[in-house]
Amino acid sequence: MTPVKRIGILTGGGDAPGLNAVIRAVVKSATNSGIECVGLENGFDGLIEPNRSRILTPRDVTGILRLGGTILGTTNRGNPFIYPIETSEGTRDYSDRVIEMFHKMALDALVVIGGDGTLAIAHQFSLKGIPLVGVPKTIDNDIVGTTNCFGFDTAVDFATDAIDRLHTTAEAHRRIMVAEVMGRYAGWIALYAGVAGGADAILIPEIPFDISLVAERLRERDRWGAHFSIVVVAEGAFPKGGSESLLETAHGGFAERLGGIGARVCEALAKETGKETRSVVLGHLQRGGAPTSFDRMLATRFGGKAVELIKRGEFGVMVAFAPSNIVIRRLEDVVGKIKTVPMDFDLLLTAKALGVTFGD
Ligand code: F6P
Repeated sequence: MTPVKRIGILTGGGDAPGLNAVIRAVVKSATNSGIECVGLENGFDGLIEPNRSRILTPRDVTGILRLGGTILGTTNRGNPFIYPIETSEGTRDYSDRVIEMFHKMALDALVVIGGDGTLAIAHQFSLKGIPLVGVPKTIDNDIVGTTNCFGFDTAVDFATDAIDRLHTTAEAHRRIMVAEVMGRYAGWIALYAGVAGGADAILIPEIPFDISLVAERLRERDRWGAHFSIVVVAEGAFPKGGSESLLETAHGGFAERLGGIGARVCEALAKETGKETRSVVLGHLQRGGAPTSFDRMLATRFGGKAVELIKRGEFGVMVAFAPSNIVIRRLEDVVGKIKTVPMDFDLLLTAKALGVTFGD
């Protein structure tokens, strides 16, 4: 095995708190092992466009552990296999250019930090012979093979704080407050923040809801003297027999955008209960700010493990969290799938046992 001397690192997809902590861990541990790091900007753009990369030294990553965002920039519109271009073609396949650039830059391996989309791209490049290690990231926590992705804990913490704040104003006005949280195809954020924040109804994509059942539970609260209620809705939740609330459909390398279900639920609950209702979309606030200590730890462990794997020559894999260890998963076993909330998950069952309605 030829020793690895130079590696590239990139962040792709939507950002998540903890990306900088991974970059820092990779750069520090690689440099300490005599490996030079090249930071590639804006996901795979750093391997498509010239002058979109820079050497990263420990000096460059000092002080970034607690910063949200990513010092490398990111995009969820940069799949090199279907790269969006402004001509009638719409998209172009730049994958060969990426491979050429990888060799031209004298890189021996890549660390690809990203969500399901970015890891799927990484897998395709791995099949084309690029030695790489993936690091899973998403606040949605829906990547298969890892109990947690960094960013999720921070998002849940923020959403929980928001729900706490909604509680006091809901109680003061005897209103129903609806909070729409992120979670495109999985209800992890809604479930965790909903339970942690003491929500009365939690609506998730895994359980199509019946709004009249939700309304009945909230009316019941009124009857026993709780004149306010909190409803947490994942952006990907949808009514029984209905469909998701789309803001934009997927097109030419652009992912679909969800949103609006909170307002719909709010309106429907006002009609069904006769109570005053208000809704709020937490949106990208959940992705911003400093990572929690848990996410900093997880991101640091992922980064350290990624470098260890590169030194061992183990490629085509992803680092993962299987409490309390960092383990390895083959990319082919995780990409193209979504980790949804299982119906026998104890947190879901406990929430139901406590009287939380999921609209089913
Ligand atoms: O996948 C992470 C996520 O934050 C989803 O929860 C959300 O639907 C999506 O990204 C938003 O993407 P964008 O930043 O492109 O609006």
